Amino acid sequence: MTGIVEPMRLRELTLRNRIWIAPMCQYSVDAYDGIPTDWHRVHYGALAAGGTGLLVVEATAVVPEGRITRQDTGLWNEAQVEAWRGIVAFAHAQGAAIGVQLNHAGAKASTFAGFGRDGDERGSVPVEQGGWQTVSASDAPVMGLAAPRPATTAELEAVAEAFVAAARRADDAGFDVVEVHAAHGYLLHQLLSPLSNRRDDRYGGDLAGRATLLLDIVRRIRAELPTVPIIVRLSATDWVEGGLTPDDAATVAGWAVEAGADAVDASSGGLVLADIPVGPGYQAHLAERITREGVVASAVGLIETAQQAEEVVQRGVDAVRIGRAALRDPSTPLRWARELGATVDWIPPQRLRAY
Ligand SMILES: Cc1cc2nc3c(=O)[nH]c(=O)nc-3n(C[C@H](O)[C@H](O)[C@H](O)COP(=O)(O)O)c2cc1C
Repeated sequence: MTGIVEPMRLRELTLRNRIWIAPMCQYSVDAYDGIPTDWHRVHYGALAAGGTGLLVVEATAVVPEGRITRQDTGLWNEAQVEAWRGIVAFAHAQGAAIGVQLNHAGAKASTFAGFGRDGDERGSVPVEQGGWQTVSASDAPVMGLAAPRPATTAELEAVAEAFVAAARRADDAGFDVVEVHAAHGYLLHQLLSPLSNRRDDRYGGDLAGRATLLLDIVRRIRAELPTVPIIVRLSATDWVEGGLTPDDAATVAGWAVEAGADAVDASSGGLVLADIPVGPGYQAHLAERITREGVVASAVGLIETAQQAEEVVQRGVDAVRIGRAALRDPSTPLRWARELGATVDWIPPQRLRAY
């Protein structure tokens, strides 16, 4: 049976194990210029040295107005590419594959980070204080934030172009994997969900219409970067009546693979307040549902022990992703291998005596 410490392939890329680090915003760019900082170098360096097979760095904006906060990282210019290059090179030197999650926050853009240069404020940043008018699939506000303006058809076409340009820059920086963020209530999820998409242009209508922008983006990145693995992150349920369902997500996952994606990560929620049954492995069934379409899938969400992770992979899910457990202990993958009694060749030599 396949286990979490076993390698796997995504397109031409070999990953040394199936314990992946989930993308996690650090909101640590105090210069507001999208350029990763010393914090990112140390944080991602520790995670890369911790044994993961695939480290995917935080939601990184494809255009400045696609940032969740002004403290987000970006990939819209060359200075950002240059700064990412060092982080990528260090990860590679540790034997970790590294990807970047590309994002446009849509109606959830222009918010305060709640710390750092932003201070302790929360919610939408008013335009007079350096915020901006957000755009979305419709004028429906998301999670109590300032009302967006519906993006025009041309603006959505430009978003696709921005994702492709950012993917090209990611490849330039040396990233092995590009992840398209279509989860957690951000722009691509705002388009996918019937709760927020009320459009009558080619980006709206039935599920296929609502998936148009996501699939265009995947298709165009694939055409641009034929060998780079593409992961799509979905909110595989909105957890409310009338929202996206696990079956919808499985359908979109199949389409994403036809468009050129290699794997789908099954997260959930983030668009509307919902009663989510949070508990150990509470989203793993969503990844399992997607694997039944023949799609490579990863599971995420309160997977916090080696045993639990093994069970998820043994149920046919291809990989697990860990978030908060890795914030507490960046060497969680190495610790899990040790707890399972597995012999692995990815312990940094400097740390061999600890294992
Ligand atoms: C500090 C923090 C930042 C996060 N930022 C992102 C992000 O940038 N992109 C994303 O898709 N999910 C983000 N998430 C969600 C995680 O990727 C993950 O799905 C979630 O934490 C559940 O996994 P866990 O229970 O292992 O932490 C974030 C979570 C945390 C705790």
